[in-house]
Amino acid sequence: MNYSEEKKEQLNADKKQMLIGLHLGNGYGSQQGAWRMPGVDPKSYTSFDARVKQAQAAERGKFQFIFLPDGPGAVLADIATEAPAFNLDVMLTLAAVARETQYIGLVATGSTTFNEPFNLARQFKALDVMSHGRAGWNAITSSGEDVAANYGKRIPSSEDRYGRAHEVIQLIQSLWGSWGKDAWIHNQETGEFANRNEILPINLQGKYVGSRGPLYIPPSEQGQPIIFHAGGSPNAYELAGRFANVVIGAAFTIEDAKAQRNAFRESAKSHGRNPDEIKYIAGLMTTIVKDRRTALDRRIQLAGDSLVQRLGYLQQMLGIPLNPSKVDEPLTKAQLDTARLSRYDPRSANALKIAQEGWSLRDILAHGVIDYHPVIVGPGVEAADHMQAWFEAGAADGFWISPDVNSDGIDAFVDEVVPILQERGIFHQDYEGRTLRENIGAPEQYGIDPRV
Ligand SMILES: Cc1cc2nc3c(=O)[nH]c(=O)nc-3n(C[C@H](O)[C@H](O)[C@H](O)COP(=O)(O)O)c2cc1C
Repeated sequence: MNYSEEKKEQLNADKKQMLIGLHLGNGYGSQQGAWRMPGVDPKSYTSFDARVKQAQAAERGKFQFIFLPDGPGAVLADIATEAPAFNLDVMLTLAAVARETQYIGLVATGSTTFNEPFNLARQFKALDVMSHGRAGWNAITSSGEDVAANYGKRIPSSEDRYGRAHEVIQLIQSLWGSWGKDAWIHNQETGEFANRNEILPINLQGKYVGSRGPLYIPPSEQGQPIIFHAGGSPNAYELAGRFANVVIGAAFTIEDAKAQRNAFRESAKSHGRNPDEIKYIAGLMTTIVKDRRTALDRRIQLAGDSLVQRLGYLQQMLGIPLNPSKVDEPLTKAQLDTARLSRYDPRSANALKIAQEGWSLRDILAHGVIDYHPVIVGPGVEAADHMQAWFEAGAADGFWISPDVNSDGIDAFVDEVVPILQERGIFHQDYEGRTLRENIGAPEQYGIDPRV
């Protein structure tokens, strides 16, 4: 290594670095048509081996975690043509992945509304022990009536959902801490299994939930699972500010992401925490292919007929009539001049920007201008530039990546984007440790946080 390389490495080592997570929804990928793509096993939905392989690909790219969202259950997709949105069972999937990976964090959504806290506490801590300290729990309150219907219920008011969520998280952390850190003696000579004075009931009863405990699970290598949260309401800021170390976010612009990140940081501060203890992770959808044209063609193939069906929506975003018979033509100058961006859709400005570049209507849609997160459709350097710009603007502490098709999209990101981020010094070269807590830089915690 020559002097300048050494210096560069030193500078990079001092630099703040981003976190990266992989979104593993139903396993096919984030685009509806992923299950039908050539080369994709159409039965991958039920393949735990496939989930393991995808997690291993992310681990090769040094991702800090995989994230499995959940309703729990429930399908809003049109099952006649689309795959369900979620894994068969997120905890079983993570258990399978835990046995076949060594470093990557294992994060799943667990609803605070539709689970008993004792069940969640037990499952997530068992996963944490099984994975040697790599578990994360995305504590969310659930929002869809289709999910509630599976439990024979209606979705409670926000006040009740979040009231219960506060109690559930405190209760679960108390259960996690109810087996004292040093309580396990397991001395075969003396016959002492554990110190009963350090394994005590919690005896908590709130307005919504209660538990006597204790939970008979000793600490993992990271003590207990990391708390994640995903939500955008004032109640979500409040909950995450108290308890979360990571927020799975959704934002379309740097300004919006910055505002969200700052709101979570302020909330953490108001609860006596250091704002750096809460990491805001923005979403990013990717089609990483060597050039823009090839990438757009891949998206067109993926979307099939559904692409042009979204023209009506684009029309609303741009405030001008669009002619479906001219889907392969760019907008005329007159159309561009009269476009009026929808005030209600934060994606509109990006849609107009792409239109002004002269792409056809079909190609505008293929850029993913109506997707759930910012979309990169092109070479890896475009994703790296996007991530660096957001990261350095203070809009995100990291990104959760939703590849279009997992079977080759994870590898494409790992091979084409990760090395650029590493070269720029904004993503780690290797894992800092074996636990999720070490790899995301979260402080030690066992049981409830005495500050909150
Ligand atoms: C990025 C992101 C991921 C989410 N993941 C889930 C999920 O896995 N399961 C779920 O039921 N809700 C999920 N939600 C929904 C939120 O939990 C929340 O219910 C929703 O944002 C409505 O906000 P509110 O509950 O704060 O009113 C997610 C939301 C966001 C923004």
